[in-house]
Amino acid sequence: MSILKIEDLHTYFYSKSKQAFIRSVDGVSLQIAAGETLGIVGESGSGKSITALSIMGLIGAEPGVIAGKIGFKTNGIQKNLLQDINEYVKLSKQDHRIMAVKKKAKEWHRHTDRVMKKIRGKEIAMIFQDPKASMNPFITIGRQISEAVRLNTPIKNRREAKEKALYWLEQVKIDSARLRFNNYPYGLSGGMCQRAMIAMALASEPALLIADEPTTGLDATIQSKIVDLMAELKSVLGITMMLISHDIDVIKRLCDRVAVMYGGTVLEYGSARDILSADVETKFEDQINREFLHPYTSALLASVPSEDHVKGNKPLQAIEGDVLDTINIPRGCRFYRRCNRVNAAIEDKCQTVEPQLFQTGNQHQIRCWLYAA
Ligand SMILES: Nc1ncnc2c1ncn2[C@@H]1O[C@H](COP(=O)(O)OP(=O)(O)O)[C@@H](O)[C@H]1O
Ligand code: SF4
Ligand SMILES: [Mg+2]
Repeated sequence: MSILKIEDLHTYFYSKSKQAFIRSVDGVSLQIAAGETLGIVGESGSGKSITALSIMGLIGAEPGVIAGKIGFKTNGIQKNLLQDINEYVKLSKQDHRIMAVKKKAKEWHRHTDRVMKKIRGKEIAMIFQDPKASMNPFITIGRQISEAVRLNTPIKNRREAKEKALYWLEQVKIDSARLRFNNYPYGLSGGMCQRAMIAMALASEPALLIADEPTTGLDATIQSKIVDLMAELKSVLGITMMLISHDIDVIKRLCDRVAVMYGGTVLEYGSARDILSADVETKFEDQINREFLHPYTSALLASVPSEDHVKGNKPLQAIEGDVLDTINIPRGCRFYRRCNRVNAAIEDKCQTVEPQLFQTGNQHQIRCWLYAA
């Protein structure tokens, strides 16, 4: 059963100077089942964070435009976090592209805030790259975690909430939790602060946890400790999670399924095993088996440092060409200009028609004309 079901999400920003929409998220559909961790990978600028912020209703720039459906189901109650949003935008008849903003962004923000008030930081919690930026510097971590407990769990009594906050500090392995309770975020090291933020996110006992590059700002040893912690929390608490990371090893360790994003869309979607597992990486050098992946995914795996690169002394290969300009999205495949697997039989299509996600295996989908048959 899916907890989160995103259908055809579009999040655009209007660039006044260019008088055009930046199509940051351009038709994304994803699902997360209860207890599962979905990983989102892709180069910087591919729309990962904007997808997460769209779910949270935290798109700030105006006049932003957002359309699609975000279904969220907890305790048997189904909610559409983007309900009625079509009132605020005008879509083209043929392809449902956003043509214009009908109403003021302010009204839309008011609407989102109303919908999200009961959900943000309660039923869906988010952890970010920079914990200090997302915690209140003037309130002790203990109080912030206690407040998260009282906000969304049946515990309302202050003393009980404090005990529960201490429990969460222990769960995230903060040593001397009772002493740390009275620390302000700035009194903690980066790794400790990240643990405190995870405790705060878990304290509201959310149905879904979204983690956006949770280990990126930390140094390597602390990074791996945080990943260990997240792996443990996942197995002990069975949390449902969306994990955004450009670190393939982190995704490999924690995720059940993976979506590979590029230029605002999902190019490949499937089990982490099919897409990232070690045997797939060995397949890499083997021209035949490598064809089980989207050309972008192959290039991405070869371009990011992973444990296997270190062990096997595999050289890193940068993906040639620039990331897609999402103002002027080409007609055909978004990856065409950088793709090295185009052949004569499909070239015409690659250039002129955007491929759909083709089913290539059990729950494995690839947006590429090579897989059309
Ligand atoms: N507030 C904004 N205004 C205009 N463009 C934005 C804004 N926020 C993000 N973008 C653009 O949207 C694209 C996707 O951004 P993002 O989701 O942050 O990428 P990433 O995959 O690195 O997380 C990028 O090209 C970025 O420049
Ligand atoms: S559709 Fe064509 S251009 Fe796009 S990834 Fe596949 S082969 Fe490459
Ligand atoms: Mg990001």
